This record gives sequence, C-alpha cells and structure tokens, in this order.
Amino acid sequence: MDEITTHQMGNPSDAIDCMITILGIESSCDDTSAAVIRDGVILSNVIAGQAVHERYGGVVPELASRAHQQNIIPVVHDALKQAGIDKSELSAIAFTRGPGLLGSLLVGTSFAKGFSSALNIPMIDVNHLQAHVLAHFIKEDENDTNQPTFPFLCLLVSGGNSQIILVKSHDEMEIIGQTIDDAAGEAFDKCAKVMGLGYPGGPIVDKLAKLGNPDRFKFSKPNIAGYDYSFSGLKTSFLYFLRDELKTDADFIEKNKEDLCASLQKTIVDILMNKLYHAAKDLKIKEVAVAGGVSANSGLRTAFEEYSRRYGWKIHIPKFAYTTDNAAMVAISGYYKYLKDEFCEYDVAPYARVEI
Ligand code: KG4
Repeated sequence: MDEITTHQMGNPSDAIDCMITILGIESSCDDTSAAVIRDGVILSNVIAGQAVHERYGGVVPELASRAHQQNIIPVVHDALKQAGIDKSELSAIAFTRGPGLLGSLLVGTSFAKGFSSALNIPMIDVNHLQAHVLAHFIKEDENDTNQPTFPFLCLLVSGGNSQIILVKSHDEMEIIGQTIDDAAGEAFDKCAKVMGLGYPGGPIVDKLAKLGNPDRFKFSKPNIAGYDYSFSGLKTSFLYFLRDELKTDADFIEKNKEDLCASLQKTIVDILMNKLYHAAKDLKIKEVAVAGGVSANSGLRTAFEEYSRRYGWKIHIPKFAYTTDNAAMVAISGYYKYLKDEFCEYDVAPYARVEI
C-alpha cells in the first residue's frame, strides 16, 4: 500500500498528490450515516435507520436528533473499521450542512467539528441536494469509469424535492424545474397513508405495484408550464376517488390495492418523465441521471431504461445504497471540494433551508 500522509489543517493542498481520504457524515433527517472515500473510491458506507418514527407515520424531529446522538459514534466507528483505516489516515471530514432538520443537522455538524478539531484536519461543509447529484461520481473501484460527463440533467426526486437540475460541473448546478407544491416522494407517502399502507409509503407502493395493473385507474395529471412539477392535485384526486368508491364498497382499497398502487405509480412516473423528456429535448442533452430516495422506485428505473432505448439517452441510475440518504454522497462531495481547497471554519452553522 502507498504511504499515507495525514493532511494538516492550513495547507492540505500540499499533499494533493498523496491519497485523499474523506470521512463523510450525514444526519439531515432520520438516517445516521458515515462513509469513507479514498481518491473517489468507496471504502465503506454505513447507514443506521431510525425505526422509532414508524409508529408516528412520519419523522419526529426531536426523536430523530436524539437517535442521531446515540448512533453517530458507533456508525463512524463501523465506517472506519469497514474501510480498514485508522482515524489518523483521514485527510478531512465532510458533513451535511443542510438542508434538513436543524436538530438532526446539529448532531452531524457538532460531531464533525469535534472530530476534525481532535484530529487537526480540515472540515468541509456539503449541500445535501448537491450530494445526491454527486453520488453518481462515487467509484466502486479504481477502474470504475461510469461517471456522467458534463453537462447532464439530473432528476432529483425525494421526500422533500422534485427537481430537474442542469449539472454543469461538480459545483455548478442550476435548477431548471421544480415542484410548486408537494414532492414526488410526498405524493407516494401521502397516497399510501390514505390507503393505510404504513410509512414510508413509497417502497410499499412500489412492492404492491409490481402485482397490479397500471392502466386500471386514471388519476389527474397537472398542467403546469415549463419544467415545473405539481403533485398536490394528484393527491387530492386520489383521495376523492377513494372516498367515492368507499361509499359503495367499504373493502374497495383492500380488494384493489395492487391496481391502485400500480396506477398511482404509473401516474407519478409519467408526470416525472414527461417534463424530463421535454427538458432534455429542448436543451439537446442526452446524458440523464436520477437521484434521491424515489430513484429506488422500480417503475421510474424501468422508465429511464425505456427512454434510453427510445431516445438514445445515456442514463445514470444510482445503486440502491446511494438512493436514500447516505454519507457516501457526502464524502464524494467533500472529495471534490477538497481538491479545490474549499474548507469551512469551526464556527460554521447548519442551515435548515438552502437551494442547491
Ligand atoms: O431522499 P430520501 O431518502 O429522503 C428525503 O427526502 O429526505 O427520500 C425519501 C423518499 C420517501 O418519500 C420515500 O417514500 C421515497 O423516497 N422512496 C420511494 C421508494 N423508496 C423510497 N418512493 C417510491 N418507490 C420507492 N421504491
């Protein structure tokens, strides 16, 4: 193994020819995660979920931050262990600064401050949304060359966002379309809740949709100008449709849940793909990626493959481990900032809201 150099705070670029080893910390919502990336190659990615929220049907911010406090040290310990490195080999610590739940972000930010101070290495603040996009640059090994080339379009779809992003470089991203109300993940989760399917609803809808007929029911699609999205109308039409059907058959949902899920999923995927198609066509871009929690959806993944065949798109679909919140995407973002000497100070504060 090559000699490892510990990069000291103040002049880390002196060591740019040596290996760059970044510890990433993610704590923006309800997943505590730590990952190690060396020269862009993933060495470990540990994620601890928080089952405590299930019984409430959504994330409870105060419980989330308490769980992060309990999880953070064992998760970081595991990430270093799985990577097979000692903490003294770290070049810098990258952490999610926002957007997210403030109490949750504070745990990761405080940990990053304490750990980087103790190790005397730099700290790098990362935008969570940019990190989702940059997850496509994580290398599985040194020979992995499957990263997107600039410029490309990224559909970022999660519980809080539905955006079409024009990605011009690792740090230059422009939102060209976004939801004006609910996000795609919220549409999945809220409609699943109406059907009594549990939380989070997206993966449950996805599972049931595989057994159903996607053309059985039709739900309303928005008519919004440009590349923006809207999902609140769909949610309302789904709710009213069920309310009417339940008046005549109290078991309507139970009898039809597979077809309901398949039809709902098809509607959401059609809405997402339609705008993305027009953006790609107008901008003459054929390299298209998807990111965020909803990118785990099988219907959306299949649609990407279909559009790739039909329109000659080169597509980038993330590994499942990089779809939901994870620290690997934070570590890779930190790696690119490290290359440009973009570090932050110890008085940095997390932010709940911020654009990409
Ligand atoms: O990016 P993410 O992990 O977290 C935040 O938004 O903070 O995304 C979570 C969202 C949830 O709405 C969840 O229901 C959705 O991603 N999701 C899915 C699937 N897996 C996760 N939606 C549809 N199909 C899936 N397989």
